Amino acid sequence: MPPPLTTERLTLLPYSLATEAHLDGLVAAWDDPEVWRYVGAGRDGFCRADLDRALERAKERGLLDGELLVVRTSDGAVLGACGLYPSWLDGGLPDETDLGYRFGRAFWGQGYGLEAAAAVLRWGTEERGLDRVGSNVQSLNAASHEILQRLGFTFREARPVPADPSRTAHWYAWTATAA
Ligand SMILES: CC(C)(COP(=O)(O)OP(=O)(O)OC[C@H]1O[C@@H](n2cnc3c(N)ncnc32)[C@H](O)[C@@H]1OP(=O)(O)O)[C@@H](O)C(=O)NCCC(=O)NCCS
Repeated sequence: MPPPLTTERLTLLPYSLATEAHLDGLVAAWDDPEVWRYVGAGRDGFCRADLDRALERAKERGLLDGELLVVRTSDGAVLGACGLYPSWLDGGLPDETDLGYRFGRAFWGQGYGLEAAAAVLRWGTEERGLDRVGSNVQSLNAASHEILQRLGFTFREARPVPADPSRTAHWYAWTATAA
């Protein structure tokens, strides 16, 4: 299990330490089609049953420890989640690990995405010993491209998004030797 990670403004909690209020906060942050606009084929909203199902599925697959809830330390607000995921979940390489993040719209544009992603990348490399981390971003998701580039990820290739081949995913990778 990852320890809670802390940054200047954020606390990143594993689900095993999350309260019911944290889970409800995450649902409130994610229940917005704008949050899902560039995720898979998009979705209309997100409810508590969706979260419970996703957590159950992650538990069955042994993946629950990869995603961390992102909590603003000053007031306990749940901003979203950020984590490390097996790349195959998104159609990537079998042995690769991907960085991902998803925050509520009210919290965008304040540097939280970059702050959380940097902490998770550090956790992956320093604690989990990864020397390569991938990520993929839909072509129109400007903020997400910016975060990866700021962290030192480099563009590898463009591929159709499996859930909606009319969209394009840009695959990036970060490698310890290039950083
Ligand atoms: C992608 C996402 C995590 C970005 O989080 P955020 O907290 O708004 O990002 P930050 O405030 O840390 O911004 C990071 C950088 O991107 C830039 N940026 C932010 N929004 C931008 C936008 N809409 N267009 C272009 N650049 C943008 C910022 O200026 C910042 O760069 P800077 O430090 O040089 O100013 C957030 O928008 C989100 O959760 N979106 C919905 C889910 C999603 O798309 N997840 C990613 C799937 S790949």
